[in-house]
Amino acid sequence: MNALVHAHSGLRYVVLALLIAAVGIAMAKWQNNESGDSKIYTFALISCHIQLLLGLVLYFISPKVDFSMMSEKLYRFFTVEHTSMMLVAIILITIGRVRSRKVEAGIKHRTILFYYGMGLVLIVAAIPWPFRNLGAGWF
Ligand code: HEM
Repeated sequence: MNALVHAHSGLRYVVLALLIAAVGIAMAKWQNNESGDSKIYTFALISCHIQLLLGLVLYFISPKVDFSMMSEKLYRFFTVEHTSMMLVAIILITIGRVRSRKVEAGIKHRTILFYYGMGLVLIVAAIPWPFRNLGAGWF
């Protein structure tokens, strides 16, 4: 359980770094009218899906997920807010990747920028950063 929480917690930085890189690449390639693709788009998607799998396992075993304690901020956060916002973010990123493969070359990078950008904002907002006093640390 502890190892899983640390894996899930540490992987946030990999997810964030890859999403920021993907958004930056998408912005540059869109501005320069470049075609082609970037492996970073796929790596960012994979990191999100690994995080989703770890999160799903945690959801069933974590003591912080408890529907009978919803009046308390910490339990409500992990039971509903964190999970639902992360799910929406990962769904957006997945849709973005699938669409970016289907659309014409000219709007590929703009599609990534839009969906990954929205996903990134949601993920940053839903992370239990230590200063939010939700009992979670930096790692
Ligand atoms: C990119 C997506 C995600 C990121 C960046 C992320 C990040 C985090 C972080 C930083 C923590 C705090 C760990 C600590 O205590 O140090 C956490 C906890 C948790 N996450 Fe996520 N998460 C993501 C997605 C998900 C999803 C999709 C679920 C559920 C399906 C989920 C379920 C949980 C649960 C249940 C905990 C509490 C674990 C515990 O301390 O007992 N997470 N997450």
